[in-house]
Amino acid sequence: MNPAPILQIKELCKVFATNEIPALSHINFQLQQGEILGLLGPSGCGKTTLLRLIAGFEAPTSGHITLNSDIVSTPERNIPPEQRNTGMVFQDYALFPHFTIADNIAFGLRHRNKKLSKQAIKKRIQETLTLVGLTGLEHRYPHELSGGQQQRIALARALAPRPALILLDEPLSNLDVQVRHHLRQEIRQIIKAAGISAIFVTHDQEEALAISDRIAVMRAGKMEQFGTPEEIYTNPSSRFVAEFVTQANFLPAKISGDTWETEIGKFRVAAITPVDIAEGELMVREEELELIPQAEAPVVVRERQFLGREYRYCLQTDSGKYLHARTGIQTMVPVGSRVEVKVQTNQPHFFLAS
Ligand SMILES: Nc1ncnc2c1ncn2[C@@H]1O[C@H](COP(=O)(O)OP(=O)(O)OP(=O)(O)O)[C@@H](O)[C@H]1O
Ligand SMILES: [Mg+2]
Repeated sequence: MNPAPILQIKELCKVFATNEIPALSHINFQLQQGEILGLLGPSGCGKTTLLRLIAGFEAPTSGHITLNSDIVSTPERNIPPEQRNTGMVFQDYALFPHFTIADNIAFGLRHRNKKLSKQAIKKRIQETLTLVGLTGLEHRYPHELSGGQQQRIALARALAPRPALILLDEPLSNLDVQVRHHLRQEIRQIIKAAGISAIFVTHDQEEALAISDRIAVMRAGKMEQFGTPEEIYTNPSSRFVAEFVTQANFLPAKISGDTWETEIGKFRVAAITPVDIAEGELMVREEELELIPQAEAPVVVRERQFLGREYRYCLQTDSGKYLHARTGIQTMVPVGSRVEVKVQTNQPHFFLAS
């Protein structure tokens, strides 16, 4: 039998008084001990609101939240944040500028656990700084650290009280791409080493895939899909998820049996389709397009980028639609030339026109 989940969310809804449209609508999910959940979705879909409800900064309109087998949020009774065993990391670090790094980390500890001795606090600061790889910086002030270091201190501050669950709201979005890539792997390792559970909000699909054990994709206050990164990437449940999580082309298509008729040609693909004849869109990933130079073909190469291991092409059909393709560097097609495009996929996805 699985141990009890660390977090259970049941039928959670949140409607703000000034906003008729629900910020969260019937959210249900569970988080297991030690699991990292990536929360992915466009701006305004309710990611921060969900974290704020879990942390206790807001009460739900209906539904409830169970943390460590205790019901902590209901519309009638909302346990305050300092009495929940959670830690939060914000996008802008929110470090206290006039406190040293040690005092920044100690603040959360003292606030949460009034009985800790001075010595115990000192020890915990050292342990946490070691965990985030920043020993020796305890006497500095936040402005004396780089953005990436400040974000690791913010993580240390949230981890120091040893919460059961840590909530990270776009912690990397203020950092440049290189630091971001490095830190996302590091944050995953730190959380795993600390053995705690985490919810990591991002609107960057690659970041979500890299850091999460499971991913929840949200849309307009609702949970659109919940699954492992592999499930979400290979089997998106809707066009919305597909567009959000994968880099793909969506080709208007008519399907009948195993034949797909599109503007760039007919393709035969073995696929299970819900109906015999349908109209909709065929999802084709960039790496699933094969380009064959041909003077009479209905597609023109508009741009080519060399990305080291591959080329990325921007193509345009005669009707004006843009497509993107990635090929190995052995396929070098000149810009301005015409190509026949073939779809090479074992796993076609078809989204019915709604
Ligand atoms: N205190 C509030 N009062 C009224 N409406 C709010 C409040 N907080 C959030 N909202 C609304 O709830 C919805 C969800 O907001 P939320 O901040 O959770 O989105 P988000 O997914 O975190 O977006 P972003 O990616 O831009 O941070 C939005 O429509 C927002 O305007
Ligand atoms: Mg937000």
